[in-house]
Amino acid sequence: MARVRLKPLALWARERGLPYSTAHKMLREGKIQAERVGEWWMVREEVPEEGPAQGRVLTLFTHAGGAGKTSLTRDLGYEMASRGKRVLLVDMDPQANLSAWLGHEEVPEEETALVIFEGRATPQPKEVLPNLHLLPAQVELARAEVLLSREPHNAFALRGALNELREVYDLILVDSLPSLGSLAVAAALAGDGLIVPVELSRKGAQALRTVVQVARGYGISLQRMRLWVGRSFVRLVVPTHAEGTARDREALKALEEALSGAVPVAPPLIRRPAVYREAQAKGVPVQLVGGNEVLRELKALGDLVEETLLQEEVAV
Ligand SMILES: Nc1ncnc2c1ncn2[C@@H]1O[C@H](COP(=O)(O)OP(=O)(O)OP(=O)(O)O)[C@@H](O)[C@H]1O
Ligand SMILES: [Mg+2]
Repeated sequence: MARVRLKPLALWARERGLPYSTAHKMLREGKIQAERVGEWWMVREEVPEEGPAQGRVLTLFTHAGGAGKTSLTRDLGYEMASRGKRVLLVDMDPQANLSAWLGHEEVPEEETALVIFEGRATPQPKEVLPNLHLLPAQVELARAEVLLSREPHNAFALRGALNELREVYDLILVDSLPSLGSLAVAAALAGDGLIVPVELSRKGAQALRTVVQVARGYGISLQRMRLWVGRSFVRLVVPTHAEGTARDREALKALEEALSGAVPVAPPLIRRPAVYREAQAKGVPVQLVGGNEVLRELKALGDLVEETLLQEEVAV
């Protein structure tokens, strides 16, 4: 896989203290290599080869609907890919929002994770950007629930399939569905741990308590099979839909207390309806349509993931 990363032209220019118009002129004159992503020019930069892939698998997980799993999968995936990490996004939700948001609507079911539960070979992921690949979904992925109810041992089918891809990718992010059913369990068991987005509200705090409880069970099962070691299978909690109010701060404190220091809590992601709507409509990560604050927010999250989750030992 090419070790290339893409950087928005505006950001590339700013880092060099150049006006955007100068950077654009260099682009027109062929002095820099760039490609189009939607309406944006992205500069191609070579990244030094870093050796073997880091091969981490993390599942974005909570049964609370609309907490931000899919947005976070897309945006964290883009953040890590733009640092030169090789990233695979796996859409495990039959709603298939992640696939649609990344421009892969109307995907044949043979190209989704459904075939993994049917015992067939893993489909070839699709390239979204250099270093950012997608195993898409579509509505028929819901049939995996039926297969899982007939053959419960298939709960580890996704884990087995993704294990084979650990040699290829530094980071595999699995976008789960808002459920605690068998498909969500298979998504959770595929990972080295869970990233849990939590809406800063009473509903969010309640959902987190349940997720922590079920995650304990997943961790114990994996540990018994020597497939996982660690203190908490919930590896990171990401507060979402923050408004910066006093009520938010109280909710954050309550989250931290509920986790009793066992799980890091990321800096909250701010609620920005217009920016997120635009990202969806244009089929791009939120970093491409938001301003500097959005870039800083996702960079802080990327730093945290790089410094903690990508550094840990994994047992597979
Ligand atoms: N920080 C944010 N500010 C404003 N809107 C947001 C933010 N994050 C996500 N959203 C919006 O909230 C909605 C739900 O987000 P998303 O689909 O990512 O959550 P989800 O947990 O994947 O939902 P589901 O449970 O249905 O899979 C989406 O319309 C998304 O654009
Ligand atoms: Mg979702």
